[in-house]
Amino acid sequence: MNTIKIAPSILSCDFTRLGKEVETVVDAGCDMLHLDVMDGHFVPNITFGPLLVKALHKITDIPLDVHLMIEDPGFYWKRFGDAGASIISFHRETVKSPEGLIDEMKRENITVGLALNPATPLEDILPYLKLVDFILVMTVVPGFGGQKFMEEPLDKVRRLNKRGVTVEVDGGIKVSNAKKVIESGADILVSGSGVFGEGDPAEAVKRFKALANR
Ligand code: DX5
Ligand code: ZN
Repeated sequence: MNTIKIAPSILSCDFTRLGKEVETVVDAGCDMLHLDVMDGHFVPNITFGPLLVKALHKITDIPLDVHLMIEDPGFYWKRFGDAGASIISFHRETVKSPEGLIDEMKRENITVGLALNPATPLEDILPYLKLVDFILVMTVVPGFGGQKFMEEPLDKVRRLNKRGVTVEVDGGIKVSNAKKVIESGADILVSGSGVFGEGDPAEAVKRFKALANR
């Protein structure tokens, strides 16, 4: 049986009821929570910082998967680790030579991911495949939830899967298109609007899980 994981992104949840929204998707059986951190520089949007990660860490034991869409991950990642994130990814586009940062994070027992934008070629991360725990392939241009899924990056997913790399896929994934993402070789599916934008987030998580466990 497949062991594909589902990571709801809280970006599309109702923030006035954050605790409840998290409880709903955790109870429905999601595997981790995807937390999108944006700084207004690397992407044209601003979300939240370590304070929110810390608050979530208090109310749930589920792994917190922080996706840093920020210009200076080297300066900020530790604050997210200290706040309770066990999985942290940063963008290849933001760091010239990622080896040092990866090493620093690994030494603190962080599960490390290297993320890449749709326009960034796979070749840019090949030298680091053995150093990280997973690659985060973006299927939208990062910055906002609810965007349209892009097909082209699935080619990267296929190539990484062939090499035995763990792949997280993020952007525009819904129950309706999850099958082709899974068939391309994804190990972790992120979904924001596909979970929280639907009438029933618990039902959406269960439907994702059903597809993932086939
Ligand atoms: C996009 C974020 C995604 C986003 C996913 O910049 O990295 O994680 O929240 O949301 P949907 O599933 O709505 O595209
Ligand atoms: Zn994300």
